[in-house]
Amino acid sequence: MAIPQSFIQELLARADVVDVVGRHVQLKKGGANFMGLCPFHSEKSPSFTVSPSKQFFHCFGCGKNGNAIGFLMEHTGANFVEAVKDLAQQYGLQVPEDDRSPQDRERAAEQRQKQATLGDVLEKAGESWRKHLKASPRAIDYLKGRGLSSESARQFGLGYAPDGWRGLASVFPNYDDPLLAESGLVITSGGDDGGGGGDEKRYDRFRDRIMFPIRNVKGECIGFGGRVLGDGTPKYLNSPETPVFSKGRELYGLFEARQAIRERGHALVTEGYMDVVALAQLGFPNAVATLGTACTPEHVHKLFRFTDAVVFSFDGDAAGRRAARKALDGALPYATDVRTVKFLFLPAEHDPDSFVRAFGPDAFARAVGDAAPLSRFLIDAAREGCDLGTAEGRAHMASNARPLWSLLPDGAIKRQLLGEIADLVQLGSHELGDLWGLAPPPRAPGKPSGYKNNSNNAIFGAGQGHKTLQNPAFGATRRVAGRSAPPRREDRALCLLFTAPGAWEALSHEEHALLCALPEPHGALFGWLDSQSHEHGPQHWGALRESLRDQPFGDVVVRLVTQTPADIEYDPAELQYVLRELAIAALEAERSRLAPLAAADPQAYARYRLLDARYRLLKAGQKV
Ligand code: UTP
Ligand code: MN
Repeated sequence: MAIPQSFIQELLARADVVDVVGRHVQLKKGGANFMGLCPFHSEKSPSFTVSPSKQFFHCFGCGKNGNAIGFLMEHTGANFVEAVKDLAQQYGLQVPEDDRSPQDRERAAEQRQKQATLGDVLEKAGESWRKHLKASPRAIDYLKGRGLSSESARQFGLGYAPDGWRGLASVFPNYDDPLLAESGLVITSGGDDGGGGGDEKRYDRFRDRIMFPIRNVKGECIGFGGRVLGDGTPKYLNSPETPVFSKGRELYGLFEARQAIRERGHALVTEGYMDVVALAQLGFPNAVATLGTACTPEHVHKLFRFTDAVVFSFDGDAAGRRAARKALDGALPYATDVRTVKFLFLPAEHDPDSFVRAFGPDAFARAVGDAAPLSRFLIDAAREGCDLGTAEGRAHMASNARPLWSLLPDGAIKRQLLGEIADLVQLGSHELGDLWGLAPPPRAPGKPSGYKNNSNNAIFGAGQGHKTLQNPAFGATRRVAGRSAPPRREDRALCLLFTAPGAWEALSHEEHALLCALPEPHGALFGWLDSQSHEHGPQHWGALRESLRDQPFGDVVVRLVTQTPADIEYDPAELQYVLRELAIAALEAERSRLAPLAAADPQAYARYRLLDARYRLLKAGQKV
């Protein structure tokens, strides 16, 4: 949804950043500003300030700064549109949605209503199961037997669904309410759809199980996992996919872990509910779990909204290794040079829960420290089953490595790995590049899109045989007949990000914020792309174009994209260049705003200095 810039301005004028931050951070007045402990890094004395006059927060420790919307994005992991909606709600403002047809609006309102109602139903069930847990010595004994403290059970909201086919009838007097089936709590004999045949049988999905509520990042209950108390099967039952719950997108424990993830500087990804709860209890509150599914790129994307470092911790068995391979595929597109992705393999008979109980937290912390970096795991995965003592084995490894390597975003890691793989398969990196159909790297480093426009394709572009214009955005050598003016940076970024699936997802949180804060229409369109990405993951241009139809400014994007000659291939290096230019422009604007204030206001001066340092780094060609 595109939100008009005027509304965002009104919202920021209405909202008080001190208020907004104060709901999450304890603030004390100190002079003109408020101070507190920074929620984005771990510190003992406050270096986090909030300025009521500038409506801005800034941490002198970690450098995080921004307005009320930025704070909510950082703190709750919300995307731009979510943060705006959240803030608008806090201030009783209605986000304008008049850009949509009345039918669309009605449908959206219904959808929201349904989600809220399903959330209420799930919350009520969870509450009732928590009460039942207190009254069930058998369930309490089971949890105690697994070493769980009552604090942990409380923290994660664990409960117990008693035996019996219609236990929930005591919670929901209208047991036939279709919402119960839609929320996944009740199974109907005709299927799970809740469709109302007259003599249908209905019964509770979860019976005689320990219940783990699954929460979204806002803390709302969206589903459950239920474990048998003994050895029955299935060991775990999970909520089905519902309008509020999607396994491929949600991570168990993220709500509980998000603060610790920030403080520890990394997230631990495990496979099980019990792993998360046990690790939290034993000193690793930064753990989350996939919900009995493979780790998807969406999972990884979600985590990278909270941290730049992720350690996957998998069971030591064959299934664990398979899971790690899937996680590798999911993580590769996000493995930029500023991020760390590691893989920890436990001994074959262990999962994180059993390992930490058997060997203690120190041993687990050491294992986390020794986890294999993504680059090593990629190489191991590619050479698996290949006899590097033979030419055939080496060729096999090269062909295994290619799809993995191709998923990596451009950067130093990618380039080094090319060399490393080439060494292992006894080829020069140019030879391997040749074999994989890559053009030679740019001759003049630091220049954007330097991949030469000869007969070969862009080195890190996806396709074969496409041509890249030299400096298509800014170069003096635009070849496009009749149009000599280079497109604006904003337009170029828009075009690149809308047409290259996965490109948006590969950007950092800061880059997202930068783009979403651009003036209309670009900011709004990037905000829309961000929400699309969160709802559907990476999408091809065709799908986006369909959804853009109803968007105001949608035609701007369509026009830009269709104007671009088809032979300009997406090139991550160009995108990085455009982003850098945009960041420089934003910093320049902010710097000139602060310059006149800096003489009198020490805060403004400090911020000016910080911006200036960042500006110089950017100018010097570094990514900040
Ligand atoms: P595991 O079998 O490794 O279970 O499944 P666990 O987490 O170690 O459980 P405990 O320690 O025996 O209690 C890992 C995850 O896979 C999903 C669950 O999310 C579980 O946490 N799973 C497993 C299911 O959804 N259904 C099953 O029947 C089994
Ligand atoms: Mn286990």
